Amino acid sequence: MRLVPRPPGTRDHSAKGHSDTFADTISRMNTQDARISQALRRELERFDPSLPIESAHTPPSSWYLDPAFERLDRETVFSHNWIAVGRTEQVSKPGDYLAGHILGMPYFVLRQEGGALVAFHNACRHHATELLTGSGCLDHAGESPRITCPYHGWTYGSHGDLLSAPHMAGVENFDRASMGLRTIALETWQGYVFLNLDDDPSPRGPDLAELDTRLNQQFETSSLRHVMTRTYTVHCNWKVFVDNYLDGGYHVPVLHRGLAAGLDLDHYTTEIFKRFSIQSCKAKEGRLGDQALYAWVHPNLMLNRYGGILDVNRVMPVAVDRTDVIFDYFFDESSSQDQSFVSESVAQSESVQQEDKQVCESVQRGLRSPAYDRGRYAPRIENGEHHFHSLLAHDYRNGTNSLAL
Ligand code: FES
Ligand SMILES: [Fe+2]
Repeated sequence: MRLVPRPPGTRDHSAKGHSDTFADTISRMNTQDARISQALRRELERFDPSLPIESAHTPPSSWYLDPAFERLDRETVFSHNWIAVGRTEQVSKPGDYLAGHILGMPYFVLRQEGGALVAFHNACRHHATELLTGSGCLDHAGESPRITCPYHGWTYGSHGDLLSAPHMAGVENFDRASMGLRTIALETWQGYVFLNLDDDPSPRGPDLAELDTRLNQQFETSSLRHVMTRTYTVHCNWKVFVDNYLDGGYHVPVLHRGLAAGLDLDHYTTEIFKRFSIQSCKAKEGRLGDQALYAWVHPNLMLNRYGGILDVNRVMPVAVDRTDVIFDYFFDESSSQDQSFVSESVAQSESVQQEDKQVCESVQRGLRSPAYDRGRYAPRIENGEHHFHSLLAHDYRNGTNSLAL
């Protein structure tokens, strides 16, 4: 099923010999829109979060395939939740910036001259050019850093205020004070910078206090050092990758035989909290320490803690069938100095990651089969996945109401 209309101005070649006026096109699009929103709501309602896991079906394949759901991901899930975009140490000095996209929506984070971190929508108020790309440090010679648009040279201050706009004298109703950059809500947690594109987001802190406690009680976190970052492009919808992570260890003995040998999978547990879940398992092998803990924070952040290692995964959708997964590896003081321990640990993690990548891409292909529509959950095992789908359903439903879809 395709829920998204043909873009305006493009011709339906099946309607030969028919010549539309612009008004005809708009009216047809309005009718199409009404049909689409009904179809979208029907697909949304096919996953019922109120059903217990024993009687629930998984969401239909349209949630993973259809561009209408990619739009919902962008305008609901990734516009109203806190999304980790990088580590605070990447923007440690005044003038440091970090630019990127959240499902195509450009942002940049900046360390101001006074040390505060701020974030802005990365689109010039003149003709929308991205002001900054990648990462770096703005040249500021001890003064307030300035951001100059690379297109026509409009210049903004570090608070987003428009400082200069060449050749704009004589423009009517041009209120310079209201032409500054729009800010984005920013918080930090566990050394990460989080953004929330909602204009009035709820604070992140209280939600995660319990996860903080668990991480700090079970593991020594003060000496962790960032050692490397790896990015994997996986040809699947981002939700396929998250589902795989949250299946309660179901796939581990089948898909990751090497990893399974180091874990006591008979005692694998999943605990569900409001907007995060924790999977944990006793470990048998030295590298993994005594216990492995896998924490997932809605919608797309994973913290994997085992032995003297933390690896953090950010699952960033790029397209409906493409996802970048960014792995940051941290090691504690003693492990980080043992080069062979570091490289062997990263190599083992990479081989698990390759197995996950292949199976996620296989799931994405399988989702296109006309013979597949929805699946079932293994009760007492796949609770984390069911919890994720329930939070998604909640985000989508809230979004379709406020977007009037
Ligand atoms: S688009 Fe930025 S100055 Fe023109
Ligand atoms: Fe896996």
